[in-house]
Amino acid sequence: MAHLLVLLWFLVLWAQVVAQYEVCDSACQPPPANMKEVMQIRVDPPGITCGNPPERFCTLENPYLCSDECDASSPDLSHPPQLMGDRERGGLITYWQTVTWSRYPEPLLANISLSWNKSLELVDDIIVTFEYGRPTSMVLEKSLDKGVSWQPYQFYADDCLEAFGMAPKRVTDLSPSNVTRVICTEQYSGWVGAKEEKAVVLEVRARLAVLAGPKLLNMEAVYTRMETVRGLRDFFSFTNLRLRLLRPALGGTFVQPDNLLKYFYAISDISVPARCVCNLHAEQCVLSDATLQCACEHNTQGQDCERCRRGFESQPWRAGSYLPVGTGSANRCTHKHTHCECNGHSNRCSYIDFINVVTCVSCKHNTRGQKCQHCRQGYYRNTSLPLEDENVCVECECDAAGSVSPLCSVSGLCQCKSGATGRRCDSCLSGFTWRDGCTENVCDDERRPCQNGGTCVDSQRCLCAPPNTGLYCEQSVCGKKDGCLGGAEGSAYLMTSQLHLLTIGLIATTLC
Ligand SMILES: *[C@@H]1O[C@H](CO)[C@@H](O)[C@H](O)[C@H]1NC(C)=O
Ligand SMILES: *[C@@H]1O[C@H](CO)[C@@H](O)[C@H](O)[C@H]1NC(C)=O
Ligand SMILES: *[C@@H]1O[C@H](CO)[C@@H](O)[C@H](O)[C@H]1NC(C)=O
Ligand SMILES: *[C@@H]1O[C@H](CO)[C@@H](O)[C@H](O)[C@H]1NC(C)=O
Repeated sequence: MAHLLVLLWFLVLWAQVVAQYEVCDSACQPPPANMKEVMQIRVDPPGITCGNPPERFCTLENPYLCSDECDASSPDLSHPPQLMGDRERGGLITYWQTVTWSRYPEPLLANISLSWNKSLELVDDIIVTFEYGRPTSMVLEKSLDKGVSWQPYQFYADDCLEAFGMAPKRVTDLSPSNVTRVICTEQYSGWVGAKEEKAVVLEVRARLAVLAGPKLLNMEAVYTRMETVRGLRDFFSFTNLRLRLLRPALGGTFVQPDNLLKYFYAISDISVPARCVCNLHAEQCVLSDATLQCACEHNTQGQDCERCRRGFESQPWRAGSYLPVGTGSANRCTHKHTHCECNGHSNRCSYIDFINVVTCVSCKHNTRGQKCQHCRQGYYRNTSLPLEDENVCVECECDAAGSVSPLCSVSGLCQCKSGATGRRCDSCLSGFTWRDGCTENVCDDERRPCQNGGTCVDSQRCLCAPPNTGLYCEQSVCGKKDGCLGGAEGSAYLMTSQLHLLTIGLIATTLC
């Protein structure tokens, strides 16, 4: 009960601590769980589990009452390996049990391999609960690569020097500089009575406390070190665990060969509080096809979110970071700008995760648009070239005097002022003459010819032969009333001018 309370307290504390990394807006990780629920258990050598054939045994505390029986064929008397991982219902403790040490002096050896087929990360102590006494010698090993290679996690013996040639240590002997040291401890192997102490522990909390202080109040220190100290995250990570049981509990004395039925191993529980390693890219870890799998975010994929999703490889994959403490950094994978994404007109794009949109940045070659697929204003597409061609956008070159605007249509047509024509509006319709733009002709040879022998000058005015006058030389100064004055062209011309002046004067007088 006390243990459970401590565990609960710790999980609550841990939950508070990790609440900062719960959602994937930034760095995120799945909640911890007791991974014994999903572990594969295997015991070696074959035949090490008791009950086949049925066998009698007794206990260290009742060595002369060898009436207990292990029988694999009876549900009530069998002790198969699954009972290490089950939940103890209604206070009824069930356990795996080995054969007795009847083959002494041959050592009684057993391996328990636990596999998850998934990288996990310890968040609290591994606790192995032994019924009928803890082994006097054992090793906890781990693998980080699904069982290909193994390394010791911790050694346990009642005499470390004798069993492993190692000086006994405690986790409290460690300092931040050697917190990942593999030690041999004598704390969990001595005989104190089978019912007093059942637990063999890999102390995770105490190791974290070396960094974060006794109540784990300074988790900042842990997170900072997780980022900066190589091997710290690895120390708490594993895919497989293996318990190598090397010598059973002896009851505080030497082996007594006359009663070997009291020597065996029995394990009721293996508690593995851990979370899936998702490289800070997932807030959920789910069982899919009986294998744990991170529900990857940040455009990552893989069982541990260990690579970028296809098409999101614009930068190399990176794990999320705990820093800055509190929110962390997502280090998300961003969209890959292939040649085609920006049609070859940009090698930069920004990915807006929220709306799942990629936008090319700084389109070159006079292009614009999300994928640089349009021409900039003032340019139009040369449809005989592929979109990726550097020269695909051609300048409109609208004539400044002939056009309403410098912009042209998608087919390159400029918008012409009246009288102007041509793609660039740099020529004039008939009846118009280019004069810094197209101006309408006053006179010309076809539609508005000068009359009475007058000549059209620059399409702007008729030069009339005296005595004719008027815009088109259509009038004669020899009016019906006065007749012609003299015969000299010069004076007639003068007269015309005078008449004009007279007319203007008359109008002026009338107005006044
Ligand atoms: C336990 O595993 C180790 C490492 O693979 C092996 O050397 C040893 O023989 C195994 N022991 C038993 C009892 O199977
Ligand atoms: C282990 O996990 C990998 C990756 O998810 C999967 O392909 C494989 O089938 C799993 N193996 C077993 C034995 O479940
Ligand atoms: C760890 O380092 C401390 C001091 O830095 C030292 O006193 C201690 O013995 C070391 N522990 C181990 C197990 O090496
Ligand atoms: C369009 O491209 C073709 C092929 O290069 C070229 O011959 C043509 O002159 C281009 N048109 C314009 C308007 O630039």
